[in-house]
Amino acid sequence: IKNIISRPDGGVGLAGERIKAAGWVKTGREQGKGSFAFLALNDGSCPGNLQVIVDSSVAQLSQITPTGTYVHAEGVLKQPPEGTAQKVELKVEKVLEIGGIEDSKEHPYPLPKAKISLEVLRKKNVHLRPRTNTISAVIRIRNALSYATHTFFQKHGFLYVQTPIITTIDCEGAGEMFQVTTLFSEADKLEKELKEKPGIPQKDGKIDYGSDFFEKQAFLTVSGQLQLESYACALSSVYTFGPTFRAEQSHTSRHLAEFWMVEPELACADLVDDMNCAEAYVKFLCRWLLDNCLDDMEFMVKNVDETAIDRLRLVSSTPFERITYTDAIALLEKKFQNAVEWGIDLASEHERYLTEVIFKKPVIVYNYPKGIKAFYMRLNDDEKTVAAMDVLVPKVGELIGGSQREERYDVIKERILEAGLPLDEYDWYLDLRRFGTAKHSGFGLGFERMVLFATGLDNIRDVIPFPRYPGKADR
Ligand code: 4AD
Ligand code: MG
Repeated sequence: IKNIISRPDGGVGLAGERIKAAGWVKTGREQGKGSFAFLALNDGSCPGNLQVIVDSSVAQLSQITPTGTYVHAEGVLKQPPEGTAQKVELKVEKVLEIGGIEDSKEHPYPLPKAKISLEVLRKKNVHLRPRTNTISAVIRIRNALSYATHTFFQKHGFLYVQTPIITTIDCEGAGEMFQVTTLFSEADKLEKELKEKPGIPQKDGKIDYGSDFFEKQAFLTVSGQLQLESYACALSSVYTFGPTFRAEQSHTSRHLAEFWMVEPELACADLVDDMNCAEAYVKFLCRWLLDNCLDDMEFMVKNVDETAIDRLRLVSSTPFERITYTDAIALLEKKFQNAVEWGIDLASEHERYLTEVIFKKPVIVYNYPKGIKAFYMRLNDDEKTVAAMDVLVPKVGELIGGSQREERYDVIKERILEAGLPLDEYDWYLDLRRFGTAKHSGFGLGFERMVLFATGLDNIRDVIPFPRYPGKADR
């Protein structure tokens, strides 16, 4: 019981105190031949429940005991009898509000008492799953990681910059963008009939479709990086934290079509500074959870992954391994032989082999072949590799992708052309190199992958409130 017992002055109640508590019944049972009931009440603030005792003279017990019922009650806190697990219980004197359960044939309560799989829950009742112990703990951990993120960057003097969600450029150059249109574009076939109707926007005698709204084809952002660079090249170190979108056909437990990304951009920083920042940030997140979210982490250890806390301890205290891509390939060739050669992108089995078998801790792989990385990464002197780095962690694989940015005008221009990207779309980006170009670096941390790593859950779809993936964008 943490916030569930709140006094009007915001303090935490003690035995003997009169308090009000509100929450949802986890379990309720009538006792003493129906003379009173025990309720386990939870308001989502912590994994523990408040034990509540209600006499039949105070409320109709059959109405108040079903799982899921909302109860707002006033009473006095009592010390429970010796040997009880509870530290304190609430003896109700007055029920202020009840939000009942309609558990009928037509509408049976959708969450069964018995444990159900996260997959069934996600598919059938994604909107009710915050009522389960697991998802509510995940969401509190997610909240803590989000608070820790702002704390870390603010503490180190980074400015929070909100980069746009609707954009006209493809940051990663991978063509995995969702296009933005208006509802009217759906009406293509009905053009004639629609034109007659009042209120439909028209331009030069034609219906004004979505693409015309911005006068250019617009998309949902895959990363805020390029826009962030224009702020880093004026305000020094900045970061953004927002939703990003990828239209990739990845049906894996590590990919979402809509995910949140934390992206810092560091002015006056090279690849080593970038790796140092990434490592310090991930360590800070792990330590934060140990210091501020231990009860939820203990829940994870008991119910989801018994190594979850050990993993946080290890990561927060052990230096990450740093290894070049070339050296990583040499190690992988020993194990995977012909399936691996210099120039390939690392597959998740390779990432897991490095972090779980060889080094048994996070590994930063850097200096990747330029052919498998984005155009904006700084070309190394060997002209074969770029100053890129990925942070790989046990269980999850790639958690962070980052790089030193190409700050040389001639080189970046050449790389854009080489990548087959339209130069005119990136002309504004070249301005950053034309006028006062500066060394700078940054990275993106996949926020859901961090939640996955912390909680020990198996599927990324269970660590975001409403997951979007190929075939699913419900509610
Ligand atoms: O490696 P990525 O593609 O890097 C970028 O987008 C850079 N522009 C970031 C930067 O330098 N500012 O993506 C960064 C991270 C990945 O390491 C991964 O953790 C996560 O974002 N990520 C995804 N997470 C969930 N679902 C997906 N489909 C993801 N794609 C990338
Ligand atoms: Mg990447």
